[in-house]
Amino acid sequence: MSDKIHYQVEDGIAVITIDNPPVNAMSAAVRQGCWDALERLAADASARAAVLICAGRTFIAGADITEFDKPVVDPWLPEVVEKFEAAEKLVVAAIHGAALGGGLETAMGCHYRCAVPGARMGLPEVHLGLLPGATGTQRLPRLAGARKALDLMISGRQINAKEALEAGIIEKLIDGDLRAGAIAWARELLDSGAPIKRVSQLDIDASDADTAFFAEYEQNLARKARGFFAPGQIVKCVQAALREPYREALATERRLFNECKASTHSQAQRHLFFAEREAAKIPDVPKTTPAREVNNVAVIGAGTMGGGIAMNFVNAGIPVTLLEVDQAGLERGLGVIRKNYSIAVDKGRMRAAQLEQAMALLSPTTDYADLAAADLVIEVVFENMDIKKQVFTRLDEVCKAGAILASNTSSLDLNQIAAMTKRPEDVIGMHFFAPANIMKLLEIVRGEHTAGDVIATAMAVAKRIRKVGVLVGVCFGFVGNRMFFPYIREAQLMMLEGVPPQRVDQVAFDWGMAMGPHAVMDLSGLDIFYKLNNEWQDRPDDPVYCRMTSVLTEMGRLGQKTGAGTYRYEGRKAMPDSQVMDIARREAQALGVKQLEISDEEIIERLLYSMINEGARVLAEGIAIRPGDIDVIFVNGYGMPRYRGGPMKYADMIGPDKICAAVEKYRARYGDLWWTPAPLLEQLARAGSSFQAWSEQRK
Ligand code: 3HC
Repeated sequence: MSDKIHYQVEDGIAVITIDNPPVNAMSAAVRQGCWDALERLAADASARAAVLICAGRTFIAGADITEFDKPVVDPWLPEVVEKFEAAEKLVVAAIHGAALGGGLETAMGCHYRCAVPGARMGLPEVHLGLLPGATGTQRLPRLAGARKALDLMISGRQINAKEALEAGIIEKLIDGDLRAGAIAWARELLDSGAPIKRVSQLDIDASDADTAFFAEYEQNLARKARGFFAPGQIVKCVQAALREPYREALATERRLFNECKASTHSQAQRHLFFAEREAAKIPDVPKTTPAREVNNVAVIGAGTMGGGIAMNFVNAGIPVTLLEVDQAGLERGLGVIRKNYSIAVDKGRMRAAQLEQAMALLSPTTDYADLAAADLVIEVVFENMDIKKQVFTRLDEVCKAGAILASNTSSLDLNQIAAMTKRPEDVIGMHFFAPANIMKLLEIVRGEHTAGDVIATAMAVAKRIRKVGVLVGVCFGFVGNRMFFPYIREAQLMMLEGVPPQRVDQVAFDWGMAMGPHAVMDLSGLDIFYKLNNEWQDRPDDPVYCRMTSVLTEMGRLGQKTGAGTYRYEGRKAMPDSQVMDIARREAQALGVKQLEISDEEIIERLLYSMINEGARVLAEGIAIRPGDIDVIFVNGYGMPRYRGGPMKYADMIGPDKICAAVEKYRARYGDLWWTPAPLLEQLARAGSSFQAWSEQRK
């Protein structure tokens, strides 16, 4: 038997223990080990029943995701699950930690299930672009009813043991020692003559899932899971469960699972699963680096961004001192925070008492002296170097030794900011994305002198406030904005070339972006981009560059906040504005920009390949540690759909050679200034390699 499985008989009950750290994934060795253990159980006269349990911190967390790109090794997971069910001796699954995906499917193959109260269960395959393909789409509806099963599989949500008990997914909660409790329960079941309950033989409760329900469900899904492939496949599996006999429906599940597994969506989403975990690993800052204590935080600036940042800490129970230049600004800021929390109360996401508790964690001040005790100070003032320098000079005077001094700059040179202090090793960038209390991304910017433990602390803080932290280096715009600028630049140029903004936005939206580039600019404010362009000190001299941003900003059309930008607004509804295209034509004429017929394909190429080309430079310069880090940034901070995998994974799936050829094509049209292929892109194109392979080789 595999060394990952232990088999022991205790008083007539066989205990089959899976021991495959860190999360007991169902690897080939574990599957084979389970198979062998079940054979042994069948032949073992000393065992009347069995308990399936796991060693370490969790029950089985699912199939082994690292095996999905390799040839399948027998026995397959569905076969193992079926073998559990077919056992002639009663088998009880004993769950602690998490039973996820193939883990819960294995448990549902067992005849009875118990769990400790703290256990969690779910079928999160949808997050990997998959469906529960080891009989889960057929078993969960039989235990929990069609509707509940569908909701769990489509959301990928994890539920606690109590909810699982109420839903009929488990039969018993075990307080105290799980192993002893499960053995005792198995004996009780035997003694009471409980039948061997095979889930596949149960009927499905479909009372609340008729044809009308599915029609409405699919309609909602088209909106909520726009563009994703797997959710629709899951719905088909549940429909098969309701309409077809078990075996036939299982064949449907297998076929649809294989389609999901082979899809680019699943490749992309699996890539992100590992990329998000890898992003937390910093090569020269080992996991053992002790983080500094962060028990209270100060935020300088109570505007929309500062308030949003403060809310993250308050939500994690960390007290925040909020500083503004004057009392009126402070009150405005606090009012906005209170309003945001009130909305949460109205929506039932928060209780009124919690709102007051949250507000009580905020200490407003206009006095820098009140920052003296803060462990972490985050500056969120106007994006202007001189102002930031003044703030850091002041912070250096008032903050205690060992305090971490962070800037929320989205583009500026952190080293210049750090140089204003006598402790540049304590200075770091923490770049939040708007709306700061919602967006998951936190770009953590490492300055030339930032200390390792300051980086470790910032990464730990990100996790504590439920953000995805990604470490980046210093350059104008860091990783995200630096790569976003070419995307914006091309959208802007296309407007001059005669492509209406709503068309570019629609093409980007259909590709999967949460919003098109023009809509994003209107939302953020065109003036923000205008100022950023002016702050970019070594910006190449090009009068065409983001010309429309300048013209519209100078006209006072700043976007949604002024009721007009690239679009005009009726409430929050964007309306195409023919006046804008008139201005674009006039500007194009003045600048000698030709009017062009541009295909949808070209729109995507110019938006994304320009971004990818910049990404290749960012990687070669070491501003991002790995291509996966860039991908994590774009799916968590820029509304790129997870099923594209992020810009660099997308590039690898298209092929760097094809991207490079397209970049050359645009270089021939527009010249070298913006379209010279990055040396790394050329190198990969020549070698027929990929960003991922390049990154692996450098490890
Ligand atoms: N396969 C392979 N490796 C896995 C894995 C899996 N299913 N789940 C986690 N790991 C690895 C992680 O990559 C990580 O590796 P690293 O230390 O080298 O970075 C390590 O295990 C620990 O994982 P986390 O850092 O995520 O640890 P946490 O304690 O934060 O979270 C967890 C634990 C909740 C189990 C989380 O890892 C998780 O959500 N795992 C994935 C669960 C999942 O999606 N299961 C479904 C798989 S698909 C499937 O079962 C298909 C079937 O239906 C046919």
